[in-house]
Amino acid sequence: MDYTEAKQRIAELTEQLNRYNYEYYMNDTSLISDFEFDKLLEELMRLEKEFPQYALPTSPTKRVGGEVNKSFRQVTHRYPMLSLGNTYSVEEITEFDTRVRNILGDRQFSYVCELKYDGVAIGLTYKDGALTQAVTRGNGVQGDDITDNVRTIRTIPLQLHGDYPADFEMRGEIIFPWEAFNAFNEQRVANGEEPMANPRNAASGSLKLQDSREVAKRRLDCCLYFMMGENLPADTHLGRLEMARQWGFKIPQYAKLCRNIDEIRQYIEYWDKKRSELPFATDGIVIKVNEIPLWDELGMTAKSPRWAIAYKFEAERVATKLLSVDFQVGRTGVVTPVANLEPVWLGGTTVKRASLHNADIISQLDVRVGDTVFVEKGGEIIPKIVGVDLSQRPANSQPFKYITHCPECGTPLVRKEGEAGFYCTNETGCYPQILANLELFVSRKAMNIDTLGTERLAMLYNKKLIRNVADLYYLKMEQLIGLEVIENDKRKASIQEKGAANIIAAIEESKQVPFERVLYALGIRYVGEVGAKKLASHFKNIDALSQATVEELAAVEDVGEVIAKSVHSWFNDLAHLEIVVRLKNAGLRFELEDKQVSDTLGGKTFVVSGVFANFSRDGIKQHIEQHGGKVVSSISSKTSYVLAGEKMGPEKLKKAQSLGIPIISETEYLQMIGEFN
Ligand code: IVH
Repeated sequence: MDYTEAKQRIAELTEQLNRYNYEYYMNDTSLISDFEFDKLLEELMRLEKEFPQYALPTSPTKRVGGEVNKSFRQVTHRYPMLSLGNTYSVEEITEFDTRVRNILGDRQFSYVCELKYDGVAIGLTYKDGALTQAVTRGNGVQGDDITDNVRTIRTIPLQLHGDYPADFEMRGEIIFPWEAFNAFNEQRVANGEEPMANPRNAASGSLKLQDSREVAKRRLDCCLYFMMGENLPADTHLGRLEMARQWGFKIPQYAKLCRNIDEIRQYIEYWDKKRSELPFATDGIVIKVNEIPLWDELGMTAKSPRWAIAYKFEAERVATKLLSVDFQVGRTGVVTPVANLEPVWLGGTTVKRASLHNADIISQLDVRVGDTVFVEKGGEIIPKIVGVDLSQRPANSQPFKYITHCPECGTPLVRKEGEAGFYCTNETGCYPQILANLELFVSRKAMNIDTLGTERLAMLYNKKLIRNVADLYYLKMEQLIGLEVIENDKRKASIQEKGAANIIAAIEESKQVPFERVLYALGIRYVGEVGAKKLASHFKNIDALSQATVEELAAVEDVGEVIAKSVHSWFNDLAHLEIVVRLKNAGLRFELEDKQVSDTLGGKTFVVSGVFANFSRDGIKQHIEQHGGKVVSSISSKTSYVLAGEKMGPEKLKKAQSLGIPIISETEYLQMIGEFN
């Protein structure tokens, strides 16, 4: 095949396969057999491999992924991605309607009610009908360019058809439909991983995967609801949605024209009941003024337009039977009661377990085993019990007796002043606490020892090779070789020399982890990543930190009394001090790098241009490095930010703009560092 033929055949196949895909995924119509489709797709793949110069960005071969993103480029939105005001009652919607009517006077208008899709907001740019960019909301001004991942979503058209505008943006929500989400979670559980709490989190995590082939496997979907651009056709919102549908977009059919509050109320009531039957999650409805020319008149508040508002549904609630109660011991010893329920369908999943909060709430609700209880889903994976149906209570029911001793190690439970939970204080001898502390210590955001997962840590502990985190640094190769472990595929194997060397190497490498992450890894209650960062940059080293008084600790920005007391009491425990000494002797970092003040800019690359008010040119470079950032001289797609002073060079400006690299001012930079006041 010669070049001209190849180019033509590639274009032809791309067009043809995109049409088949569209009919299949959007209209449920198979125009050809799977076999024939695959044959054509293979032909296209072969040609694209041989003649990569002719492969089109709209090619259906992009659907299977293959591009690997190391990090996602930050892109500035052409139009900011706004959010909507939230309401929770019909009264608040009536207030919204009154405000709109006050501004519009006697002008005629109507509303469009739509479902509020519970997913990840996305902006899709189409140039000459081809999808060129897909960007997440981010902070509303800038988001992540996740185009390669988005191309794998079959219902997002790569090429439009019909009379579309030359350059515009389509906005919508990427969702994880229940069926795909539940299958995905089952797979996670089968792999020994934690299930994801809800489809929104799972969709968001999927879109940030580095390997687009993995995204392609997830069966994400997309609901589009908004068009942006200059000189767009149609002057009603519904009219635009209809146009978009004709060009090939997936526009859900749930939108409805409503003329007054009563019709809006009916829409809400209908979907509040019916939403559990939808194939995806929705958390409310969105009400928009339909006539687009009126939007400008209605204008904006600080964050959201005045021509639209969201109404949030109350959490779904179902009744089921409480079969028994288990008690789980957390990392810090806190005991959580967990209810075992008669399985019940709630918001897209079958619920078997629910949180019972703590002893106080159990007694306030007077929940008893055998009761019919009401269950609701919050943002977490475990739903909560929110009430009891007393009319269903069995005659012989007994008040619930809370446990007095740790279910794992038998230590009497204590209750700390002002706290609702009961604690097991046997931190050094209670198995789930020890294991959870080890897990936190090796986790990615802490010491990042990725050769040690839960199974291996448990095995090392059970073999008495480690009692606490410090022991990891005194492990020897010989102790590891021959130990039996369970591999990812669930098969048993014994650690060979290479495996042992990898474990030791990862432990060794973790000695380079900066002080603030070491501090986080220690697992001091209430000291999260941010708290550890603040404490590390304030006290600079562990000695100063361990000697600080509660008042000195509480004086640190963002460190309240609760954290201060927790840190103080942690360092008053001899067992903890012993761990710190042994970790120190092993060579872990217990002070900030000489020059490094914080790691706020860790992983970010800057190009500096222009003249600054508070810094010399060298001064600002040094400042960036002191906060963990890197300074390079020329702009590339890898640059995170261009820091622009007065009189920034025009060439740099042009380059930054063409690559979509965010340009920040000196003030924005100082805000980023937290030094602007
Ligand atoms: S319209 C300027 N319509 O909810 C208004 N948003 O809380 C643009 N959302 O930012 C948004 N379903 O991420 C609109 N049918 C829908 C929606 C919807 C979900 C999301 C979207 C929005 C947020 C507002």
